[in-house]
Amino acid sequence: MTIQLIDYTAPAYDIPETHLDFSLSPDATRVTSRLKLERRDLSADRITLDGEKLQLESVAIDGEIVGPDRYELTDTSLTLLGLGETAEVEITVTIAPQGNTELMGLYMSGGRYCTQCEAEGFRRITYFLDRPDCLSRFTVRVEAEKDGFPTLLSNGDTVETGDAGEGRHYAVFVDPHPKPTYLFALVAGAFDSIFDDFTTASGQAVKLGVHVDPGQAGRAYFAMDALKRSMKWDEDVFQREYDLSEFHIVAVRDFNFGAMENKGLNIFNSSLLLADAETATDADFMNVERVVAHEYFHNWSGNRITLRDWFQLCLKEGLTVYRDQEFSSDMRSRPLQRIHDVQGLRAIQFPEDDGPLAHPPRPTEYETIDNFYTSTVYNKGAEVVRVLRELLGADGFAAGMQRYFTDNDGTAATLEDFMAAFDFGSAEAREAAFRWYQQAGTPTVTMRREHNAETGDVTLVLTQSQKPTPGQTDKAPLPVPLRIGFLDAEGRTLPLSHNGAASDEHHLTFDTAEARLSFSGAAGMPIPAILRGFNAPVKVDTDLNQEEKLVQMAHDPDPFTRWDTGQLMMAEAMIARAEGQAQAGPPLDRIAQALAGEFDRDDFEPGFVARAIRPASVSELLQQTDTPDPAALFAAQLETRRTLSAALAGQRKTEFARPAPDADSLENEAIGRRALRSTFLFLAAAEGESAAELALDAFHQAGNMTDSMAALRALSEIGGSAFETALAEFEARWKDDALVMDKWFSMQAMAPHDGAERVRKLVQHPLFSLKNPNRARAVYGAFANANPVCFHAEDGSGYNLVADALIELDAINPGTSARIVRSFETWKRFDTTRQAHAKAALERVLAAAKSTNLKEVITKTLGG
Ligand code: TRP
Ligand code: ZN
Repeated sequence: MTIQLIDYTAPAYDIPETHLDFSLSPDATRVTSRLKLERRDLSADRITLDGEKLQLESVAIDGEIVGPDRYELTDTSLTLLGLGETAEVEITVTIAPQGNTELMGLYMSGGRYCTQCEAEGFRRITYFLDRPDCLSRFTVRVEAEKDGFPTLLSNGDTVETGDAGEGRHYAVFVDPHPKPTYLFALVAGAFDSIFDDFTTASGQAVKLGVHVDPGQAGRAYFAMDALKRSMKWDEDVFQREYDLSEFHIVAVRDFNFGAMENKGLNIFNSSLLLADAETATDADFMNVERVVAHEYFHNWSGNRITLRDWFQLCLKEGLTVYRDQEFSSDMRSRPLQRIHDVQGLRAIQFPEDDGPLAHPPRPTEYETIDNFYTSTVYNKGAEVVRVLRELLGADGFAAGMQRYFTDNDGTAATLEDFMAAFDFGSAEAREAAFRWYQQAGTPTVTMRREHNAETGDVTLVLTQSQKPTPGQTDKAPLPVPLRIGFLDAEGRTLPLSHNGAASDEHHLTFDTAEARLSFSGAAGMPIPAILRGFNAPVKVDTDLNQEEKLVQMAHDPDPFTRWDTGQLMMAEAMIARAEGQAQAGPPLDRIAQALAGEFDRDDFEPGFVARAIRPASVSELLQQTDTPDPAALFAAQLETRRTLSAALAGQRKTEFARPAPDADSLENEAIGRRALRSTFLFLAAAEGESAAELALDAFHQAGNMTDSMAALRALSEIGGSAFETALAEFEARWKDDALVMDKWFSMQAMAPHDGAERVRKLVQHPLFSLKNPNRARAVYGAFANANPVCFHAEDGSGYNLVADALIELDAINPGTSARIVRSFETWKRFDTTRQAHAKAALERVLAAAKSTNLKEVITKTLGG
């Protein structure tokens, strides 16, 4: 059944007040709800509540138990009949959290109760209007055994606790802020808790709690610190304060996603909350910081202002990703953050936009909303907010954001409401900007130069084009904000004039299919960078020649541009090699020379250089090649790494001659130098066997998980006995630590040598289980997304391995199967042999699939 945006209608009744009473038990939890209904639609006398997998015990309307003459029951709904203008309804159901393997609704993880309600999980807890525009004030009573479940939590403020007799206890929570069901949460179990305090700008005291598995408290402090910094940052930058007297974060090991922004009670995948230097890499720490901030920021962009319907998902997710990216930029390094985010966008969102699953940030139809938690909604959604900021200017954007928060507080809003808060100068300009939310596909901007040596004028001839995407063939031009700067042939900044004004950098909007932008003051042909900072999610195609690109990658003042042009040149060199045309590609020695210059800059930043000298992964190269050959690309990448490694040997020596950075330090300098050392190791590992000793040494010397992982990753590529030795030692040390063992599983799934066979053996390991999404992703997600050589093996063995797993996984957890299957989305870009294997594998999964989640993704993947 397809749900359409244009079919939206408001519910016939409001539910202003909701009382829930939970009597928790693993196989038979009793949930009693007391709802106050108020008619909205004058002609209504019935209401259809959502409900799935519930055992209905009783229904009472206005104080009287009623029979089936007053309701209609189906597998997915309960319709109450003959209602008046208002009604008091009491419904009792029983549910079995212990058997809930889908991890939606109320379930158990590690013997603790927890919930996940977004998007449509609440309907597995009780009958309700399970839709984001039904805002209700919740009062919740939770009762459980004292033994084993000392901590009881739900949204809002704790107003009462007590003994419930028979070894049980209870707590009552009131959340004064009306909210939709998807933000409901409940937790009960035994936790190690750490507490802290925060005082808001207006002086309100907030008690903060982070609750983790017993014995793990030491790994919770970083998240607590990140939370306090997030609260302060949202006050400083967006003037948003927290609005309850308590805020809790709970870590659970079994979770479908990263984390969830339930009002006042965020629930996290433990992989995105627990971190210390022994067990977490620097990348893990940065992810914890980012996700803690993300979920906290939802308190305004998502909770105080929520969504009218799920088509508006990008309103909370895109905006909140934008906010967390800005937070991370302020906490860490702005240029590095931009590079990190753009790399992610290009690796995941661009292929999505280019393939059968392409959709606009605001889709117009869906079958399963779970399938729309995509990179397009999240990451392109964030880029669109960035575009708006550029179009409006920093002040105009900031003023609009304040208007948005004020005007829509307490409502379920739409993207139209968001756009209405900004002053674009004209209705046409607003409409043009809004198209970013409505059109699918990544635009390509081309730039060609016309230079007049006599007048010194240069004209940039720009075009923009967008390919058709499934269901959307007509594309109108989009307003693309550009930041343009010029260099001369020696790499010096050229302050050219545009419309009479000279500047080192011109901020201009390109909003037509074609445009000619003229600049004066260029004696020779200048070298322009047109998308400095990458403030629009587009592909850029320029007429710069090799020499000009070498100048740009070495000298452009914008670090993003230097990184980007360097990456482009290295990718061109690798792809040319993979196609047996090394001569046609840019010369590696010149590239290496330009990269070496990064080490001598006054503004040398080790973390930046670590990324600049690291050539693209094979997965990234696959996206840039037609009919790619993964093995040939891998070989070309290895060759390129060897060349760079030799060319930068002096720089490597200098770095390793310095004392190692403090293993526990999370300062930029320490993180950056570890990243640089790890890149050097990555380059050297391309030597193969002869680098095994170096890598094993690095593994033994590692003083924290970052260094340990860098060495293990290098060993996984080299393979052989050194890799097996390191794996055995690692397992012996970490076998009792689930999060660390996820890394051990991933490393093997990503190893390029033994192919699918290694993974088939790996999943026989006693610690492997498909029931835990982290573990399933650690093996099959890593294999399908980060082992392109083996996943795309020509004999189809990689596709078949994943297909077998998907069939089994779908019966357990459709949310996770429908996500892993996305690794097939680029199947049509490969040769006919691989296409045939991929198609057969997908058809086999489709025939066996149980869930609509998985079926929807496969049908679109095959058909598009
Ligand atoms: N809203 C969550 C976020 O912060 C996403 C999320 C968490 C989710 N759990 C989920 C989405 C389960 C779908 C299903 O981005
Ligand atoms: Zn989110």
